[in-house]
Amino acid sequence: MKDRIKHPGLRSRVMSAPEAAALISPGMTVAMSGFTGAGYPKAVPQALAARMKEAAGRGERFKVKVLTGASTAPELDGVLAEVEGMELRLPYQSDPHLRERINAGNLDYIDIHLSHVAQHTWFGFFGGLDVAVIEVAGIRDDGTLVPSSSVGNNKTWLEQADKVIIEVNHWQPAGLDGMHDIYYGTALPPDRRPIPLLHADDRIGIPYLQCPPEKIVAVVETNAPDRNSPFTPPDESSRQIAGHLLDFLAREVKRGRLTERLLPLQSGVGNIANAVLAGLGEGGYRDLTAYTEVIQDGMLRLLRDGVLRMASATSFSLSPDGIEEFSSNIDFYRERILLRPQEISNHPEIIRRLGCIAMNGMIEADIYGNVNSTHIAGSRIMNGIGGSGDFARNGYLSVFMTPSTVKDGRISAIVPMVSHVDHTEHDTMIIVTEQGLADLRGLSPKQRAKTIIENCAHPDYQPLLQDYFERAQRDGYAHHTPHLLGEALSWHQRLLDTGGMKP
Ligand code: COA
Repeated sequence: MKDRIKHPGLRSRVMSAPEAAALISPGMTVAMSGFTGAGYPKAVPQALAARMKEAAGRGERFKVKVLTGASTAPELDGVLAEVEGMELRLPYQSDPHLRERINAGNLDYIDIHLSHVAQHTWFGFFGGLDVAVIEVAGIRDDGTLVPSSSVGNNKTWLEQADKVIIEVNHWQPAGLDGMHDIYYGTALPPDRRPIPLLHADDRIGIPYLQCPPEKIVAVVETNAPDRNSPFTPPDESSRQIAGHLLDFLAREVKRGRLTERLLPLQSGVGNIANAVLAGLGEGGYRDLTAYTEVIQDGMLRLLRDGVLRMASATSFSLSPDGIEEFSSNIDFYRERILLRPQEISNHPEIIRRLGCIAMNGMIEADIYGNVNSTHIAGSRIMNGIGGSGDFARNGYLSVFMTPSTVKDGRISAIVPMVSHVDHTEHDTMIIVTEQGLADLRGLSPKQRAKTIIENCAHPDYQPLLQDYFERAQRDGYAHHTPHLLGEALSWHQRLLDTGGMKP
């Protein structure tokens, strides 16, 4: 205990998770650490869920409002969803139980841009924060906190919450110390000043989180791993998508619009993102940088190989093998990785200044380039917008990727009109499927429709989209963005009626 909790006053506040959870009362707003399955509290939420279950057994209602950085894990979102212990959750989530509860209407879910969460908290848009539950890797003798495997919104949670519960996780490598850059220069309008970050590897803050020790009401020790899903190698479709994107980037270099160092990369997580990263590794690139949200296995490999010179993010999301690689070579990675608060990793000002190349997955796109990242058939939330909007709106390039069909070809990812809009046609520059790539830059709506249908649609759906587009031009209301409104969402209706989009 002494090793990780060096502040004598805070050492005296060590208690069990149930004792700490007893400090949380029904109706409170609880801000928790955690981002893409890293750095979330592992013991207090479970103890809280146990209290909620007991309360339900007595016929009492015990729910709280939960704010996090992004998705967490079964030990947080999973257990609280299972006991129906959340009345509100924000922002991003990806837990299957929680998704079921949200789609069943059992709690309110607010899906907002990840860069907005901290400032909306400061603006008071969510009311006050009663308690923050924050995982750290250690407490220093001056009371400052060594962040763990994610930073997320922790700076804001610690500053804004009335009371703080700290989980010190001995599983987190002690070598994380020094890898973080916590910027304390943000202010509220009208007193904001430029954020002095000019390059992806600039350090503009301090390595530690600050919190007045008197606010810390409990310290809980844990020794538990982050959620670390095994890495699945990219499938054929992901490799094809990556291939189209890498050919495109090579063409941009040839045309002199990008240098061989490209521009700072932002990459979503998952199979396609991993395939793109693997492809960059094989493409002969050197000394690239990443200004992104999450460091996944593929990025570690690129750092190892010198393809990436450095990576800035707010969190890790590693497989067990990735964690092993990271922990065994932590001194190497500490020189090359910076973890920042998510309001900085996702800051529109910085993303635009650096000119990030934003590469994200999507659910579907329509023939004009509007993108749906979050909803199935218009109503059912999948995960959330995450940081995709922060990067797509402000990046030098905004790329959206998906297989052209899903569910064994029953669903087309290119549709006449998206059933929900996260990224408008104005924010979408490049769409890629395994069929090909549509470069929408400088194109009018009708030109965009032509290139998306020709390059990205699956052959099973291409004639149907072509037919829709032609009839819309012939019979539609106007010629700027031709649509047949009565038919525009008929593909989704058919999906609901028959389980597929094919007529
Ligand atoms: N219609 C219906 N279902 C669809 C669909 C569509 N057009 N497209 C995808 N799906 C389903 C898949 O079938 C899969 O379902 P399953 O869990 O039942 O197998 C699920 O959505 C996830 O798709 P998957 O193929 O596993 O892709 P993914 O892991 O790349 O996720 C998104 C795709 C869009 C869900 C994911 O990228 C996301 O959440 N994006 C928004 C946030 C974001 O961009 N974050 C990164 C920015 S920092």
